[in-house]
Amino acid sequence: MNALCILVSTCLSLSLGQDEIVDLTHTFGKKTIYWPGNPPFNFSNVFRLPGTPGYIAEANAFETAEHSGTHMDAPRHFCPEGKRMHELVMDRLSGPGVVIDVRKQSEANSDFQVTEQTFRDWEEEHGTIPDGAIVLFNFGWDKFWPNRKQVFNTDDVMNPSTFHYPGLSPEGAKWLTSNRKVHAVGGDTPSTDYGQSSLFETHVILLCDNEIVILENVANLNSMAATGTKVYIGALKLENGSGTPVRLFAVPMSSASVTRCSMLLLALTLILKALF
Ligand SMILES: *[C@@H]1O[C@H](CO)[C@@H](O)[C@H](O)[C@H]1NC(C)=O
Repeated sequence: MNALCILVSTCLSLSLGQDEIVDLTHTFGKKTIYWPGNPPFNFSNVFRLPGTPGYIAEANAFETAEHSGTHMDAPRHFCPEGKRMHELVMDRLSGPGVVIDVRKQSEANSDFQVTEQTFRDWEEEHGTIPDGAIVLFNFGWDKFWPNRKQVFNTDDVMNPSTFHYPGLSPEGAKWLTSNRKVHAVGGDTPSTDYGQSSLFETHVILLCDNEIVILENVANLNSMAATGTKVYIGALKLENGSGTPVRLFAVPMSSASVTRCSMLLLALTLILKALF
């Protein structure tokens, strides 16, 4: 019974130290930022009827471009033979969360690009990027949302050649994909390639050469821990989709241990009951 007591107190302390789930998603609506050229967001009421007295029955319809707001890119976004949303293997849609804080560099230079050195510096402090990781760059761009001119950092939001925001360099993407096995890469800017990119080589390296999915316009990275979470990409299984808006969130690992803990406790209790 002593072992049981220890287990119970360990479980309790784990649950007390548990943080909350962080929602990494911008609210999807009329203020949502779209890449220039996409059709606008549309939301309309289909019906709102009286139901059971005191209640209602309501349904709405919405129309949206794939690559808008907090969203993911499937390989098909850039690769002629790449997987579409409904073909993606599930393991690409979750993994240990890694947040790389590059707010200082991005504030000093809005054309900043993450390099091999950025990853090496991060690993020195936090350890090796784990297998299956979902790597998210905190460029400090969340604070500009949903101001289009500030997010694209230009006066001409219709002209991508004038955009200035940070991203992941092609060399950095090559290092990451050759040396670590990650599931997804993303950040809080509108594109994983920096604003001044015209060839989008980082997209090609990630999506086409390595089938690593991309996350863009990620929110709330300031509230997410650098390590110790599991990130889930709640993506629509859209037939033929080249991408989709997502509900992205980070669950603290401790809650996973709490679940494991309670399962273990339950099993132990059952065994003890059967024995005595
Ligand atoms: C998806 O593509 C296939 C093959 O081209 C086609 O038969 C199907 O109708 C498409 N589905 C949608 C929803 O467009």
